[in-house]
Amino acid sequence: MSQLSEAALSREATAKPQSCVIEQIHQHVSIRRYKPDPIPREWVEAIVAAGQRAATSSNLQAYSVVAVTDAQTRTTLAHLCGEQAHIAQAPVFLAWCADLARLERACELRGYKQVTRYVENFLVAVVDVSLAMQNATLAAESFGLGTCYIGAIRNNPREVIRLLRLPRLVFPIAGMTLGFPDAAPKRHPRLPLRAVLHWECYDRTGEDEHLLAYDRTMAETGIYDGRQVAFPGKPTDMPDYGWLEHSARRVAQPMRIELRQVLREQGFELE
Ligand SMILES: Cc1cc2nc3c(=O)[nH]c(=O)nc-3n(C[C@H](O)[C@H](O)[C@H](O)COP(=O)(O)O)c2cc1C
Repeated sequence: MSQLSEAALSREATAKPQSCVIEQIHQHVSIRRYKPDPIPREWVEAIVAAGQRAATSSNLQAYSVVAVTDAQTRTTLAHLCGEQAHIAQAPVFLAWCADLARLERACELRGYKQVTRYVENFLVAVVDVSLAMQNATLAAESFGLGTCYIGAIRNNPREVIRLLRLPRLVFPIAGMTLGFPDAAPKRHPRLPLRAVLHWECYDRTGEDEHLLAYDRTMAETGIYDGRQVAFPGKPTDMPDYGWLEHSARRVAQPMRIELRQVLREQGFELE
């Protein structure tokens, strides 16, 4: 039984965003079409600086960002990231990287040897960069800019590492397109809150019901029209293609299977 006070209960009953931050968060949508207008350099700096204000494990700040504006480099990146045209179209591409190279230097300067062989150190850097890039996303959206994360930066990691001249102990985790939106796509509804929020302990009661309801909601949005994930032996024009089919196809295929090897080559041993 919930221990909420009367005041809290009445607040809950009329629950709606209480600040412009929450309102802005709920307006988020990934943008995949951009105007050619450039972004002032100071805006990019303000966006990355906002990223830097995110909490960071032990203040280690184990990440770096490479901001790419050069059109030729963006075209090459679009090709390396699965021919995603929005990478070449957006005036700025941010490559968000896990970075233990700076800490390696800190160790050298102070006479220590950094331990980089365990998964934990890599996870610290991945969490740090994830928090920073989401802060940056919100900052960009507050300028009226659109963004789209690019996980496909890990499609051809060796080539991206070479292109952006990433040193040992620096690894690209996600890209981000940045530009003035030239489209107003539909927002993707999210799973019902009760499917992801568990009070006191993990509780799967009603899980299938939530999933099936969400599956229908997503199918009805039309978001998957013409964008069904290919899967061997399955049609790409399935009428009841919703979140379940989309997500199942996405996770039932091996992806980027050489990542561990490339991480090792970059100095992340992942033991
Ligand atoms: C880590 C990460 C990687 C992503 N990679 C890509 C990508 O390579 N290409 C793309 O078009 N969208 C990419 N996305 C965007 C997701 O497809 C999108 O966030 C999701 O479908 C929900 O849509 P919304 O952001 O509009 O709410 C990525 C998102 C995240 C968080």
